[in-house]
Amino acid sequence: MKILMVCLGNICRSPLAEGIMRHLVNEQELNWEIASAGTGDWHVNQPADKRSIDVASSFGYDISKQRAKHFNKEMFEDFDHILVMDQNNLRDVLKLASNEIQREKVKLFLPDESEVTDPYFDDRLFEPVFLEIEERCKQLIEEFKQ
Ligand code: 4NP
Repeated sequence: MKILMVCLGNICRSPLAEGIMRHLVNEQELNWEIASAGTGDWHVNQPADKRSIDVASSFGYDISKQRAKHFNKEMFEDFDHILVMDQNNLRDVLKLASNEIQREKVKLFLPDESEVTDPYFDDRLFEPVFLEIEERCKQLIEEFKQ
């Protein structure tokens, strides 16, 4: 199973989702590949935002070695599931899809049309965003295992 987490900058939300998911998947000895990317390219090759690295570290996850990547069309072929953080990401990723098989791989990370709030402009959002992503990663593992 190959899962790609996508947000805008690939420095705040999707690196958290990547790092948490990989950690939990490894704990369960599942042989899944987890990655993340951003629909924007401003931060390519940069580490995650320090606030994401710090909140992850405070809960026992190391995301410090991850580097930002720009979402590209090849990723539709490379991954089984492409999970996006908000409606803008959904629109931007779907714009690049070339067929229905690719479009079907793309879903919101949260259930029920919910979006993961972009914490970039508000330091106080990093912990609640972390907790929401961690809880959803645990649910997704159970869903994908079935
Ligand atoms: P992310 O947050 O999409 O969760 O990584 C953002 C990071 C950077 C920017 C926007 C959102 N930015 O405009 O640089």
